[in-house]
Amino acid sequence: MNIKHFFIIAFLAILSSCTNDSTSDITIPTNDSLTIKYSTDIASIINSNCLSCHTSPPTNGAPMQLTTYDDVKNAILNRGLIDRISRTQGAVGMMPNGGTRLPQATIDKIIKWQTDGFVN
Ligand code: HEC
Repeated sequence: MNIKHFFIIAFLAILSSCTNDSTSDITIPTNDSLTIKYSTDIASIINSNCLSCHTSPPTNGAPMQLTTYDDVKNAILNRGLIDRISRTQGAVGMMPNGGTRLPQATIDKIIKWQTDGFVN
């Protein structure tokens, strides 16, 4: 084997080691684990911030309950829930009524729940 062949073989050896797909062992998290779900994310937010009034039956003048998946989904689609929780602190109609505005990350979670398609 002359020197030229040696370099060609060495080059091919390096090339094949580079194309060895070692990344195939890395587990890429499925989109599913990032999806916001009613059962694991949304219900607890509503429970601790809204059910003191929006319980079943509603109290303190609240017009509807928010105790089930359908209640909360319906309030987003037909009762402006996202608008209400997005209003600034102290603005008329901000929810939770007379309380403290939810942290922005929590509001974003509820918005993402809608854009994710209301997964239960
Ligand atoms: C202290 C009681 C109280 C709490 C807590 C509360 N609400 Fe309300 N909510 C009311 C009252 C009273 C109304 C009716 C007056 C109004 O529309 O502003 C209302 C109205 C609403 C409406 C509008 C309904 C419609 O058809 O016009 C939405 C949506 C809503 N609340 C969502 C929420 C959400 C979401 C939370 C929790 C983050 C929450 N509320 C927490 C008392 C409360």
